[in-house]
Amino acid sequence: MSPSSSPASVTADPTAYLSDRILNMQESATIAMAKKSRELAAKGIDVINLSFGEPDFQTPQYIKDAAKQALDEGYTFYTPVPGYLDLRQAICDKFQRDNNLTYKPTEIVVSTGAKQSLTNAVLALINPGDEVIIFSPYWVSYAAIVELAEGVAVPIMGSLENDYKVTAAEFAAAITPRTKMVMYSSPCNPTGAVFSREELGAIADVLAQHPGIFALADEIYEYINFTGEHVSLAQFDKVKDQVITVNGFSKGYAMTGWRLGYMAARQEIAAACDKLQGQVTSGTCSIAQRAGLAALQGGRASADEMVTAYHRRRDLVLSLAKDIPGMVTPTPEGAFYVFPNVSAFFGRTTPEGTVINDSGDLALYLLNDAHVSSVGGDSFGAPDCMRFSTAAADEKLAEAFKRIKASLAKLK
Ligand SMILES: Cc1ncc(COP(=O)(O)O)c(C=O)c1O
Repeated sequence: MSPSSSPASVTADPTAYLSDRILNMQESATIAMAKKSRELAAKGIDVINLSFGEPDFQTPQYIKDAAKQALDEGYTFYTPVPGYLDLRQAICDKFQRDNNLTYKPTEIVVSTGAKQSLTNAVLALINPGDEVIIFSPYWVSYAAIVELAEGVAVPIMGSLENDYKVTAAEFAAAITPRTKMVMYSSPCNPTGAVFSREELGAIADVLAQHPGIFALADEIYEYINFTGEHVSLAQFDKVKDQVITVNGFSKGYAMTGWRLGYMAARQEIAAACDKLQGQVTSGTCSIAQRAGLAALQGGRASADEMVTAYHRRRDLVLSLAKDIPGMVTPTPEGAFYVFPNVSAFFGRTTPEGTVINDSGDLALYLLNDAHVSSVGGDSFGAPDCMRFSTAAADEKLAEAFKRIKASLAKLK
């Protein structure tokens, strides 16, 4: 028995028997903040929750109907590990229709959400010590997933002047002989930034010079894009074999609770993820898969309706945020967040005498004073910023930013 798992150390420290893997892992900041705001709400306080990355829309009815039908038709058994063949074929059809990308069902692995697909790909490719370049600000789980695989997360920060988008030159400068992968999301959570064809083309040029580096392109917000064009890195033929594209149903089809995502990659990588998934979770929920098939067959009309609302709310929140002295807010071109730089408030003091040292302190102050929950930028690799979700009703957003403005004005 190793010292860390001896009964004596368990008595001294009740968590000492847990693995280093878990002890060293950070709790998801978005989930932690949502938990805090639920605690306040349970005390009867009117909290406006802008910390969660979740559509406030119901899953469209035609998708729910397909799930009910799946139950009635007896879809209650284990499924093939990479997903039902007809669903994988529908995903290939989607790639062809939306992205002009040709994949075979053997190159698709359906999973329990994009989060699992990202984890599968990292675990399938990263050896201990391999470096993974993460375009920063990044989604909270990227670094934790890389560390789980014992890889080394190498965040590289885009500049505010470039809407926090990392450039091809910055990417090239971060590559070392240990680099094995690069990860990014576009549209980006948390900034809402969207890579243009030109920008991604330049990144593809760099990648093409390094055939041993793989790109994990997280396209979960593909449909929530206000620019009119979504570009996939895999569309650049010379790097298609190096790209793993991750997508899912949570955001575009408002299906967060169903837990359904997928990845597309060259066959050996897909087979590796299938193998891993077969030992860990098996195929994802049969009913969710049938619902996902219906979702794709319905096209993107339901998503487009939601996007109209997200676009309107983006404009509303942007105008309210720009009206708050000290907040510097780039214009998000997709997803449903704003990510202002709030460093102007650091060093200021609350009416209770607490000094705001960072965006985590500011998020806590806004929760307690304005009763609005948000997430400090630290966990997105951008400590000067904070993230507010815009996936809430217009009235709630207007009320939230009125309260935020009043609370920030009280800081001395
Ligand atoms: C950038 C990004 N990738 C992946 C995910 C996970 O999506 P899923 O619900 O499909 O696991 C999220 C969810 O917030 C996200 O924002």
